[in-house]
Amino acid sequence: ANEINALVDRLREQRNLSDAEFKTILETDAYDAALQKAADEVRRTHYGTDVYVRGLIEFTNYCKNNCYYCGIRRDNRNVTRYRLTKEEILSCCAEGYDLGFRTFVLQGGEDPFYTDDLICEIVAAIHAQHPDCAITLSIGEKSRESYRKYFDAGANRYLLRHETADPEHYGKLHPNELSALHRQACLFDLKDIGYQVGSGFMVGSPYQTTENLISDLRFLQKLQPDMIGIGPYITHAQTPFANEKSGSLELTLRLLSILRLLFPYALLPSTTALGTIHPQGRELGLKAGGNVVMPNLSPVRVRKLYELYENKICTGEEAAQCRGCLEQRVKSAGYEIVTARGDVKR
Ligand code: 5AD
Ligand code: FES
Repeated sequence: ANEINALVDRLREQRNLSDAEFKTILETDAYDAALQKAADEVRRTHYGTDVYVRGLIEFTNYCKNNCYYCGIRRDNRNVTRYRLTKEEILSCCAEGYDLGFRTFVLQGGEDPFYTDDLICEIVAAIHAQHPDCAITLSIGEKSRESYRKYFDAGANRYLLRHETADPEHYGKLHPNELSALHRQACLFDLKDIGYQVGSGFMVGSPYQTTENLISDLRFLQKLQPDMIGIGPYITHAQTPFANEKSGSLELTLRLLSILRLLFPYALLPSTTALGTIHPQGRELGLKAGGNVVMPNLSPVRVRKLYELYENKICTGEEAAQCRGCLEQRVKSAGYEIVTARGDVKR
């Protein structure tokens, strides 16, 4: 027990461990209780009991990419594809604003229908209507020039998970047309331009090893992102990975706590994927160090169609009540949703 606490204390104080020590911590549940306790203390030191909400608008499920794990990959002919108009997106934001959201996340597949001009037009319109809100984009890999245009139009933050830092593992999850290094270069471009940047990875994706996870931690130490989104990989039957098994709650929570100790100031969402693999997944994610939740603000009629993975929660009749539902859940975990932009504290 003393050795366990000593290692967790060192992780907390040095914000680092050796590869061998990370491997030890990642491959057993022996450290989990100590990790969680330390992560919650660190979270409370920097963010108190505050939980930030981000209103997620999934505005297109068209995608030109073909990631092996993703339900909306271009080769999945079973998806009913949709796109939201600028007006529909603006009305999602207006509704969200009234519910207390001060960050809007526009997420979509990589859909060339939305040209740079159209994205800029949408961003500028949201910015004009809600000047006190943060605008986050999550629309994949673009050129540095495109990223700059969106930024100039009023976007403040960008989410682009690196997915897995190891190029060889990346190659097992994606067709050859995509590369780990290009994705990582995008993240450094975004940071350079001045975005608050979010990265992250899936836990328990096919072929993932402990060494891959350690590479992910090392990559994040290099990038120093403001936000880190992680969630379990969840199988989708209409993908090449139909027979692979989903990631675990336990390992995702362990990694959330490790991330909180490595990055005390980070914005760490307790993700929908975590809520999908366990009924109390999001509450447990908050207790393990998470401080952000991202409820869906998309029109209810399209929610089932943005199916990256199976059994995604909050897509049915209950979806209109997510804000109230989450309020209760966050409270039951011992925290409180606040009405604020929720910028990173450094
Ligand atoms: N299971 C879990 N997460 C997934 N994502 C995509 N497909 C899946 C899946 N099957 C994640 C990716 C992406 C984010 C938007 O959703 O990490 O970056
Ligand atoms: Fe969506 Fe509970 S948060 S129904």
